[in-house]
Amino acid sequence: MHSAVDVIRAKRDGGELTDAQIDWVVDAFTRGQVADEQMSALAMAIVWRGMTRRETARWTAAMINSGKRLDFSDLPRPTVDKHSTGGVGDKITLPLSPLVAACGASVPQLSGRGLGHTGGTLDKLESIPGWQADIPVERMREILADPAIGAVICAAGADLAPADKRLYALRDVTGTVESIPLIASSIMSKKIAEGTGALVLDVKVGRGAFLKELEQARELAAAMVELGTDAGVRTVALLTAMDTPLGNTAGNALEVAESLEVLAGGGPADIVELTVTLAREMLAQAGIDGIDPADALADGRAMDHWRAMIAAQGGDPDAPLPVAHHTETLEAPATGTLTRLDALDVGLAAWRLGAGRARQGDPVQAGAGIRIHAKPGDSVKAGEPLLTLHTDTPEAFPAAFEALRNAFDIVDPAAVDPRSSSHPSPVFARMPLLLDRITAS
Ligand code: URA
Repeated sequence: MHSAVDVIRAKRDGGELTDAQIDWVVDAFTRGQVADEQMSALAMAIVWRGMTRRETARWTAAMINSGKRLDFSDLPRPTVDKHSTGGVGDKITLPLSPLVAACGASVPQLSGRGLGHTGGTLDKLESIPGWQADIPVERMREILADPAIGAVICAAGADLAPADKRLYALRDVTGTVESIPLIASSIMSKKIAEGTGALVLDVKVGRGAFLKELEQARELAAAMVELGTDAGVRTVALLTAMDTPLGNTAGNALEVAESLEVLAGGGPADIVELTVTLAREMLAQAGIDGIDPADALADGRAMDHWRAMIAAQGGDPDAPLPVAHHTETLEAPATGTLTRLDALDVGLAAWRLGAGRARQGDPVQAGAGIRIHAKPGDSVKAGEPLLTLHTDTPEAFPAAFEALRNAFDIVDPAAVDPRSSSHPSPVFARMPLLLDRITAS
């Protein structure tokens, strides 16, 4: 006979939970027989004491078993998905899913809505008139099996890892999100339950990411790769930089418009680079070789799959995207080289403009957000626009400008002492986007 208090005490005192304890506590919590305050106390004990590899794997399995596990293994094409831990301007899923489908894989992408300063894929797509996030499993299967579509981006049903849904909401309000085993099991329980055969994780690192330090991100990536691999999902993780926003937009409809530029063969270089890099990894994990995703972006095949994917979910790919009613410009205060544009500050400003939500269930504005006119490394002139702020609620402008007060640095190259010891350039050194790659050990 188990008791929640015994399980909490065992972890509080640094013990290792047994398989039976983990199965019981997750199941009893799902059925409402372990109270929220008890589960919160256990989560806090896990934050402090950690979990072993065995405990984390069992915890993940228990969360998967709390609901239904989808199975797409009978589809004619291999399935592969991507998960990003979230960043500012991270619209990569939008061009990536149809691109990978155009290259021969099926992409079952269950996504979420944004909370705080990072955007959510579903919020972005919901700015397309008519587009629906809720797709029944049988319809998902039809879309995935259709070679002219092959990708679906939708909300996870209520019965997919329900224990995680309840626990994540509790962790959000009890200061217990920051635990590598809890984050890894939360993300991976949903990804394993969604039935993908292979998975590429994009673990963001830096100012605008959930994890600021490379070492922490490596640890999380390794834990998730282990969980996926042990559950029979071919999994690899890329660690990618999130110190500056990705691309030139942060905000829902603004990001959809930028994704369309990428699908039309243009778009910002960093978005194209990350989309193609992730597509190559996804195709490799899916066992598809001999196809270069860069070609499918350039020749319009990815765009064809995008249009079919949007239409399959009720959206009109030709409808004009919503535009915010008010804009204001932040001008460069000096002439020089932009050496820093802070992802967190830009994300917070976009959020304050109405692109994000403070609480689950809050509405978001489709047109709100920020257009970025210069990225680190670019030359700027005093008085030229640096950022354009968009919103339907102009009373939000002062708070957004406040968030951007220390968001950037402009350095006058002529004023830098050439004998400076800074390396490799006294003014600006462009950081690589791809920081590391973690595979199963
Ligand atoms: N995203 C999740 O889905 N779960 C976490 O615990 C953290 C981020």
